Amino acid sequence: MTGRASSDKPTHMRDHSKAITLDQTTAIPNLRLADIRRTYHQGPRAIHVLNGASTDLMPGEAVALVGPSGAGKSTLLHIAGLLENPDSGMVFVDNRNCADLPDRERTRMRRSEIGFIYQFHQLLPEFSALENVVIPQLILGRDKNSAEERAHELLTGLGLADRVRHRPSELSGGEQQRTAIARALANNPKIILADEPTGNLDPGTSDRVFVQLMDLIRNSGVSALIATHNMQLARDMDRVLRLEDGQLHEIQIPA
Ligand SMILES: Nc1ncnc2c1ncn2[C@@H]1O[C@H](COP(=O)(O)OP(=O)(O)O)[C@@H](O)[C@H]1O
Ligand SMILES: [Mg+2]
Repeated sequence: MTGRASSDKPTHMRDHSKAITLDQTTAIPNLRLADIRRTYHQGPRAIHVLNGASTDLMPGEAVALVGPSGAGKSTLLHIAGLLENPDSGMVFVDNRNCADLPDRERTRMRRSEIGFIYQFHQLLPEFSALENVVIPQLILGRDKNSAEERAHELLTGLGLADRVRHRPSELSGGEQQRTAIARALANNPKIILADEPTGNLDPGTSDRVFVQLMDLIRNSGVSALIATHNMQLARDMDRVLRLEDGQLHEIQIPA
């Protein structure tokens, strides 16, 4: 597994996480989920998907979100990403309580502070890789030249320098997901939310894309919450949260 550091210690015991512990005295979480509750109603039936889910994500921290299908991982990511409202509980992005924000400000917050990566890339098919990374920046008002410069820099860093003019259909699965990663980071968000980002890739490609994603997270100070069914990848993150009975529990995955 390429992503593992040479140390045999589990990730949470490595020096890397020591830095995060020290930071906690001064740093504020990029994302705080506080007692999030969400119930879906299907006819007479109430499904209590989230039942008091809470966690803090510190800058530079990559956190795995695991749990069986139907546990509520996607629901939690949508709520954290301000795409959906909880029934109760609070979402703080960069110390701002997002429940109080008017719609327009919520949307701005989502576009500028949050990057999404989905299992299926969801790139715009009619646009090149470069344009897919440029467009979210233009939406926030960045000028075209600096947006293209930023897109080139990100795509080059992900090994896609000679693919920038390709459309999504002309890219491999791994290249599509790398482009989606570049797009998610384009506006320098505080938070990356990823829903099984390598779930559609073959194991070798999945490992390589994952390593690149981890490098970007650790070098940029963004916080990431990454839903995955891959326990090897989960173990390589700083913490693993298991969603069970609607709550988040920190677990250790044995080597
Ligand atoms: N819009 C919705 N309406 C009704 N039920 C939903 C809706 N979205 C999700 N659910 C239900 O909530 C539960 C959690 O779904 P989801 O968050 O997609 O879980 P996961 O991503 O962990 O597989 C499932 O039982 C699902 O059927
Ligand atoms: Mg899901």
